[in-house]
Amino acid sequence: MTKVITYGTFDLLHYGHIRLLERAKVLGDYLIVGVTADDFDKLRGKINVQQSLMERLEAVRATGIADEIIIEEYEGQKIDDIKRYGIDIFTVGSDWVGKFDYLNEYCKVIYLERTQGISSSNIRAQRHEVKLGLVGESGVLSKIEKECRFVNGLSVTAVYAEHYYVLPQTLQKLYRWEQSYPEFLDSVEAVYIASHPTRHYRDIKMALERGKHVICESPVVLDPVQFDELSELAVKKGCILGDAIKTAYSTAYSRLLLLVKSGRIGKVVSVDTTCTSLSDIYHIPEEKRKLIWNSICAWGPAALLPVFQLLGTQYSRKHIISSFADKECNLDSFTKIDFLYPDAVASVKVGKGIKSEGEMIISGTKGYIYVPAPWWKTDYFEIRYENPADNKRYFYQLDGEGIRYEMVSFVKSIETQKSMSYIDPDITKAISGVIYDFEKRVDMDII
Ligand code: CTP
Repeated sequence: MTKVITYGTFDLLHYGHIRLLERAKVLGDYLIVGVTADDFDKLRGKINVQQSLMERLEAVRATGIADEIIIEEYEGQKIDDIKRYGIDIFTVGSDWVGKFDYLNEYCKVIYLERTQGISSSNIRAQRHEVKLGLVGESGVLSKIEKECRFVNGLSVTAVYAEHYYVLPQTLQKLYRWEQSYPEFLDSVEAVYIASHPTRHYRDIKMALERGKHVICESPVVLDPVQFDELSELAVKKGCILGDAIKTAYSTAYSRLLLLVKSGRIGKVVSVDTTCTSLSDIYHIPEEKRKLIWNSICAWGPAALLPVFQLLGTQYSRKHIISSFADKECNLDSFTKIDFLYPDAVASVKVGKGIKSEGEMIISGTKGYIYVPAPWWKTDYFEIRYENPADNKRYFYQLDGEGIRYEMVSFVKSIETQKSMSYIDPDITKAISGVIYDFEKRVDMDII
C-alpha cells in the first residue's frame, strides 16, 4: 500500500484545496492530511486565519477525500510523521517547490501544480474591510498603524487628534488630519482610541452614539459608573467596546493563565506584578503635565490585569500608596497597590519616576510562575518547583507585542458581533474602579 501525506492550513476551504487533495489521493492508496494548529500557523506568520482548527478539520473531513486527518503542531513534525506513519510520498502545492526537498531523505517528495487564481488570502482580502480611525496623540498609535498592516479585513483610513501638532509624526505624514471629531467619525466604521484617559469617556461616547465600534487604550474610563453607561450604549447600538491591553492577547500570557487555572502551581496565594518606565516626569513644563499619562494610567491596567484575571475582582480590601511629582495634576511618580482577598494577596507596583525589575511572580501552594522582565510583553515564562529538576520552561512566539493579535480579535468581534473575549468587562470595570479610587484618594496613603 502506498501512503501519501500532505499538509496545509485549509482556511475557508476552496476549489484549489480540493483539487490538491484529489490529486494527492491518486498518488497512492491511503491519504493522510495534516491540518496546521492555530499556534503553529501563528509561528509561521499566518495570523489572519479565519476559521478555528475544528472548523478547518471539519471542512477537510467533509470533502471525504482524506483517509486520515492529523494535526500539525510543531516544526519538524513532518519528519516524525513520515517515519511514524510509514509514508511513501510527501506532496504539497508548487508554491512550495524546493522548500521540502530535505524530506527526500525519508520518502519521495512531489510538488503538485498549484491551481491558479484562488487562495485563502484572496478570499480573506475580498471580504469587507473595516475602515479604522485612530484617535489621540499617544505614540502607541504609530505602532497600531504599523501592526494593522498585518491584519486582513481592517485598514486605517483616518486620524484625529485635538491639535495637528500632537499627532505622532509618522501619522502626520501618512494620513489626512481631520479637524472635527464628528466629521472624522462619519468617515470610519471603527476607532482605536489612545487620547488622554480624561478624554476617553467623551471620545468613546460620541463614537458609540454614531454607531462606531470602539477599542480603547486602558483605562477605558476613569469611573466604573461611566463604564456601565458606555457598555449599555454599546449594546444598544450593536457596537463592540473593547479594552486594549495588549498583554491579554499574547499567547504566552493566555497559556500561563490556563496553566495556573488548571492547578499547575496549586492554589494561587499571591500575585505580584511590577511595571515601570523611567522618564523625567519632574521636569515636564506645567502646561504639558495635564497631557501626559500618569503612572497609574500608563501602567496600572496591565499590572492589574493578571491580579483580576487570577484572583477575581471581589477583593476584601486594598491599600494604595503613591508618591507624586505633581499632586494637582494627579501625576504620580510611583504607585503601589496591595490587595487582600479572603485567601490570597496581590501587589502591584507601577511607576514612571522609579525604576524596578519588571517581572511577574505568581505564587502557589505547589510552585510558582516566574515571568522575566518585561513580563507584559511576554513570550517566555517558567514554572518553578521546590525541586528544580521539575521546573518547566515555556516559549510562545510574540509578534508585534500582541497588538496584531488584538486587532485580529477586534475585527473578528466586529464580524461576528460577539464581544472581545480576552478581557472580561468586569475586569475593565474593576480597573476603572481602582483608578477612580486613586483619583478620589480612597484607601490611599501618600508618601
Ligand atoms: N493549494 C493549491 N492551489 C491553490 C491554493 C492552495 O494547490 N490555489 C495547495 C497548497 O499548495 C497547499 C495546500 O493547497 O499544498 C494547502 O494550502 P494553504 O496554504 O492552506 O492554502 P492557500 O490558499 O495557499 O492559503 P494562503 O493564501 O493563506 O497562503
